[in-house]
Formats: sequence, C-alpha cells, structure tokens
Amino acid sequence: MRIANEVIEEILARTDIEQLISGYVTLKRAGSNLQGLCPFHSERSPSFTVFTASRSFYCFGCGAGGDAISFVRRIENLEYPDAVEFLAKRAGVTVVQSDSYGTTPRFDRRRMLEMNREAAKFFHTALFAHTPGADAALAYLTEKRALDRATVSHFGLGYAPGGYDAPLTRHLLSLGYREDELIAAFLSGKSERNGALYDSFRNRVMFPIIDVSGNVVAFGGRVMDDSTPKYKNSSDTPVFKKSRNLFALNFAKNAASERLILCEGYMDVIALHAAGFPEAVATLGTAITADQARIMSRYTKRVVISYDMDEAGRRAADKATRLLEEVGIEVSMLTMRDAKDPDEYIRRFGRDAFARVLDGSQSKFQYHLSRIVAKYDIENPDDKLRALAELREIIAAVSSSVEREVYVGIAAKRFELSQKSLADDVEKSVRRRKREVSTKEHQSLRQSLTGYSDRVNPEYSRVPKIARLEETVLGLLLLDTRHRRGIFSDPPSLSESDFYTEFSRRVFLYVRDALSENESESSILNERFTPDEIGRITKMRLARMQLTENGDEVFRSALDALRSEVSAKRMAEEGNPLALLDGILKRKRNDT
Ligand code: UTP
Ligand code: MN
Repeated sequence: MRIANEVIEEILARTDIEQLISGYVTLKRAGSNLQGLCPFHSERSPSFTVFTASRSFYCFGCGAGGDAISFVRRIENLEYPDAVEFLAKRAGVTVVQSDSYGTTPRFDRRRMLEMNREAAKFFHTALFAHTPGADAALAYLTEKRALDRATVSHFGLGYAPGGYDAPLTRHLLSLGYREDELIAAFLSGKSERNGALYDSFRNRVMFPIIDVSGNVVAFGGRVMDDSTPKYKNSSDTPVFKKSRNLFALNFAKNAASERLILCEGYMDVIALHAAGFPEAVATLGTAITADQARIMSRYTKRVVISYDMDEAGRRAADKATRLLEEVGIEVSMLTMRDAKDPDEYIRRFGRDAFARVLDGSQSKFQYHLSRIVAKYDIENPDDKLRALAELREIIAAVSSSVEREVYVGIAAKRFELSQKSLADDVEKSVRRRKREVSTKEHQSLRQSLTGYSDRVNPEYSRVPKIARLEETVLGLLLLDTRHRRGIFSDPPSLSESDFYTEFSRRVFLYVRDALSENESESSILNERFTPDEIGRITKMRLARMQLTENGDEVFRSALDALRSEVSAKRMAEEGNPLALLDGILKRKRNDT
C-alpha cells in the first residue's frame, strides 16, 4: 500500500459524501436517500442517487457508482492517488505519497505539473530574450495582435525558440525531469532517425492552458506567419484531457455567475479578456464535447456563443447549442457584422461596440427565426410549410411551456397564422418528443441492467445465466459480511474457482482481500478497479439490498445453482471425463 489505510479511512470519515456531491449536483431528499440529475450523463429526470447510510452513490441511468473517492475520480477526472489527495486537501488531512503506485507504471502527476510550469516559465522568459526570434514573437503579439504587456503576462504567453537544438528539452533535463516524462507531457518528441529528443513546439508563440485549479496542463502554439498547421496543441497527456478542459476557464469561472461567452479561438478569448470580458472561454482546437458542456454548467446557467461568422462557425454553433441545452444551459447566439470573429470585431470597432452586440445577442429562438426566414421564401406556400415545420421542431424542443407559448406567439405573427393552430402543432411534437426521450432512457436503463453490450464484463453476453448468478452471489457477499464466512473456513467452502467470468473472479478476490488483509476496503476497490467497474460493483450490492429477505437462503441456492452451471459449462468446454470427475470432486470438497 502506498497510502496508509488509516489515512484513507480518516479521509473517508471526514468526508461527508452528501456535502461533497452537493458541490456538483443539486440534490433533493427522496426517502432516506438523495436524488439529482446525473453529472455523468445527460438526463431529464433524476436517476442519480446518493445513499447516505452506505456512503455511496449510483446512477440507475448510466451505471456510474461507488464511494466518495470513486466520485472524485470521475468528476475531477483524476487517478486514484490524486483523488485521495484531492479529498485529503478538502478534509485537511496530510497525505505522503511516493511516486509509484500499484503495479502499473504511471507518471507522478505533481511532478508533471511542476514540469509544465517550468516549461511555461521557460517560454515566457524566452519571449523577452532579445534574440531575433524572440523579438519577432513579441512584436507579433504586441503589434500585429495589439496585445498590451499586461495581457501578455496575465495569460503567461511565451515563445518557443526555433531550431533543432532542443532548448526546452535540455532545460527540463537539467532540472532533473526524465526523458519519458518529457515525451509523455508532449513537450518533447524522439527522432525516429537517431533517437535524439527535439522540442515539440518550435518557433511559435505559446499559449499555456491552465486548469481551474491553476495548474499548467498543456500548451497551444501558433505560427507567426501563414504556414501550417496554424496551431499545434498538446495531445492528451497523463495530466490533460482536451475534451475536459476549456481555455481561460481558470479566469472565467470567477466571472461566470451571469454568463460565459464561448468562442472558437485562443485569440478571441484573449482579446475579450483584455477588453473587459473575463467571462470568455474557448475549446481547445476541437468542437465542444458533452463533458465540456457539463463542466460549463457547473459555473453558469447562461452561455453566449460567439463563434466565427462563417458557415463552419454556424454549424459548430448549432452543435454547441444542442450540447449546452442538454445540460440545462440557456443559450444565445451573438451575431457580428463586418468582422469574422470577436477578436477582429473588437480590434475594428472597440469594446463598447462589442458590449452592444453582446446585449443584443439574440435568444436562440430569435436567432433561428431570422435564420429560417432568410433561408426560405415564405411567400411560396411549399417553402412556408417547410419553414414552419423546422420552426415547430425548434419550439417543441424548448422545455418550458410558458416559453413555448411566447415563441408560438411571435412565430404566428411572423407567418400570419392563428396562434391556436400553430400551438396545436407544436404540442403534438412535444408529445412525440417526450415519448422518444422516455423510450431512449428506458432502453439505456434496460441495457445497463441486462448487461447487454457489456464493457465491464465482456463475458456476460456469452454466459448470461452464469454471470447473473455470479452477480447475485457477489452482491450478497458485498452487502453482508456474514456470507463471507465460508471464504475463511478451513478448507474454504467458497473460493475463486467458483466463479467463471474473469471480472467476477476479480470482484471475489477484492471481497476476500478487503477482509483478510486488514486493509481499507475503499483503497483496494479504487486501486484495483476502473470507475466503470466500480459502478458495476456498486450495482451488484444495490440489487441485493432491495431483496434482503431470506438472505441466507438466497445465498445458498444462488451459490448452488452457480456451481452446477459452472461445472456443466467447464465440462462442456473441456468435453473430457476427467474434467468432469475433477468438477465433482471439487464440489464434494467444497460442500464439507
Ligand atoms: P481560428 O483559426 O479561428 O483561430 O481557429 P484564432 O484563435 O482565431 O486564430 P487567429 O486569430 O488566426 O490567430 C480557432 C481555434 O481552432 C484551433 C485553435 O484552438 C484555434 O484557437 N485550431 C485552429 C487548431 O487547433 N489548429 C489549427 O491549425 C487551427
Ligand atoms: Mn481569429
């Protein structure tokens, strides 16, 4: 064990799981438990439950589940030891860690973050080194892009020197960082030709990406001319996931209470912050993801999309709208004339002009209405019907009925129709949509309950009967330690070989070790299993909790049934009489 059990237990004892999860999810009391909308998948009715008594959580929609540590692993996207550290900080407990964990080699997150910080310092210092390259970079930022010095240092912008003598790599090696760390952090690459290390970023102006805790997690680098690729970005690393970070959210989160402005580019965000709009953020060289939408919803209820004014930007904005609305964010769309993006707009027309555009940012409905009216010739009856069909779907997607009524009123006027007939049409669509949504939620619930297309236990669909029995037995073992007695009898009447699928065997070993090794159950769980696997284990226990009557009898008969299924299966597989005999002998031994 790398982290002492007592420490883990103390952290868990000091962590109120209700309070922890309430920081991310709005919870409502439901009997002795709490419920809310799941932060790990999109849903409209709450299936995410916090079980106060067992200090665990489970989502009946997506199967996420576990204890406080598992929750932090998922929601903060942290490895197990880092999740422990996160909770320790919160609880005011000191944790001492060495730098290797478990059996799988991994990188020390803290060291890698320090290394990234050193790299950011290196780039920033290099910007003022008065070499020809540095001078060109500084001129690019302060003249061509018109940024003042304060903005350059606020964002920690920098310069990655050119050439292949790898100045950053040499600098970081001299500080004691290792080759494998440099490569894993995307700061260096290795030449296939001669094995030499080179700097990943060369002759580019550098944008450090900083997470909400203030760590430097990645970099974007832009060329200073028209060469391609225009931007080079860190790929995912042990401390960075593109799909879960937003540029400048570290600053914007403090200004987000009223709204966030979502842009496409780093330069747009920087120009906006410099002009007094610190609520601007951008994705990192990719379209917005569902994770990013959920992360934004933790900080704000309203997002103004300010994408580029071209066809690609419009399509991207539609996608962003969909994802943001799915997590309950109210979206509006900013439209600019005579500039392609916010950066250019502010440079040409100034901050006040932008503030006016921002105030006039159209509600999504107004935006769609003008878009649709422009797209169709509404004097032509066929086109008018098509336009109305499109608009009807847009109104039907709005969840508030008051809001729908307002939109119906506006649209009816615009299309010269009676409000009643349009409203009827819209409500028909609303009902159809509701049916579709509930079928979808139902299907995913069923899938998660039947183990169909099972990633956690891929053997489930091959031997469903055995896997179901295994889950029953394991669920009871997890729920009630009394059932575990047989594991420790001499000879044991319950052992690893009673289980057929690999996943179930691992769960069995966890159950056994949690008791016998005198270790923290939570640390064994979180060390050995991925968050998805922990979700499944939580489900097994819960499924049994609802059926606590006659636990002993259920356990006995499930175990008997499992044993005969497994031995029949093994017999069939091996098709050999000795194996059969073996199975019988083993059962006899186990039955004593
Ligand atoms: P833009 O081309 O709109 O970038 O791409 P920008 O920030 O406005 O750049 P300037 O104004 O030309 O300097 C938007 C975003 O897409 C990503 C970057 O994150 C960029 O900020 N991108 C773009 C890349 O990752 N790679 C590229 O080659 C281009
Ligand atoms: Mn731009």
